[in-house]
Amino acid sequence: MAELAGVTVRTLHHYDEIGLVRPSARSAAGYRAYAAADVERLREVLAYRRLGFGLREIADLVDDPATDAVAHLRRLRGLLLEQRDRAAAMVAAIDSELEARAMGITTPPEEQLKVFGAQLYDAIGSAYPATRRTEPRIAARVWEALGDARTVLNVGAGTGSYEPQDREVTAVEPSAVMRAQRPAGAAPCVAAAAENLPFEDGAFDAAMAFSTVHHWQDPLAGLREMRRVARRVVVFTYDASEPGWRDRFWLARDYLPEFAGLMAGWPSLADLAEAVGGRAEPVLVPWDCADGFFEAYWRRPEAYLDEHVRRAVSVWTRVGPQAEQRAVRLLADDLDSGRWAERNRDLVAMDAAELGLRLIVA
Ligand SMILES: C[S@@+](CC[C@H](N)C(=O)[O-])C[C@H]1O[C@@H](n2cnc3c(N)ncnc32)[C@H](O)[C@@H]1O
Repeated sequence: MAELAGVTVRTLHHYDEIGLVRPSARSAAGYRAYAAADVERLREVLAYRRLGFGLREIADLVDDPATDAVAHLRRLRGLLLEQRDRAAAMVAAIDSELEARAMGITTPPEEQLKVFGAQLYDAIGSAYPATRRTEPRIAARVWEALGDARTVLNVGAGTGSYEPQDREVTAVEPSAVMRAQRPAGAAPCVAAAAENLPFEDGAFDAAMAFSTVHHWQDPLAGLREMRRVARRVVVFTYDASEPGWRDRFWLARDYLPEFAGLMAGWPSLADLAEAVGGRAEPVLVPWDCADGFFEAYWRRPEAYLDEHVRRAVSVWTRVGPQAEQRAVRLLADDLDSGRWAERNRDLVAMDAAELGLRLIVA
């Protein structure tokens, strides 16, 4: 049995002693005899062990009466796929950093530690590409604002949805999972955070940041860094300071009031603009917006009932599962009963909505 399972006899004895895998019978001479069910249990134990679980946790898992052999195999398969994706993400991140280093771009040691640490986007980033992609009308605004810049730094670049193809782009992205999902042939990407950009003063013609500033630990410091390394700065962000901003979008107003809480302590739009010395312009969200950010489906409310749509937007993870489930349930009820349509009658006739999105250009 030990030979077949690739473990030592001592391991089998230990599993027996602690009650983890007990053979169903013993021979007259006292040898352990393993039945088919024992073998199955041992296989599960060893698979969880290889995934890094401790023996006590494994005991709880394999003794769970609600989990049969098929459920164990499904769970193990899911865990292995996750492990494979994480490994692939790290390999791709390392390749991308090697590429950046070959170009003479290095990441300071403290940033290397920070960027390889646990991050929101390392946890949720694999769900991002399902619905997050370039919205051409908004991209056109960003690219126009970049003016005649030839070299562009894209900070918090993610999968690179808004990187212009006709300029020399360098991307900065702290999440390994996001870096790994950049398409083949995308601009080189450096593992770093906005607050500490590993570039010389004035190294780029322009720096851009799209839908990322609200994730930075210190947004004003990050914006000042962008200003330091580039002569032009373009930032797509959100205004959570104008009066009545909480009531601008029906989803936050009627179903997810927790959204406003996420913005607590967030600098005013004026402060954000001042950090780069720029002015802010509104960006309307088209009714058929191609990039599935939080506000994108303002005229397509059913979309928010779709798990894929929600998993690609950090707001839903940040408010927590209780608030999320409550909001989705209420919305589903209101869509069924016609209450949503009644409350939001005016939206149907609109092609684009003002939902607080802003382009800061400096
Ligand atoms: C909503 S995604 C936007 C990605 C990309 N700009 C886009 O529009 O598709 C936010 C990104 O900001 C990144 N981010 C988080 N903290 C950051 C920081 N301190 N500096 C730079 N980027 C950061 C996240 O890892 C994530 O990829």
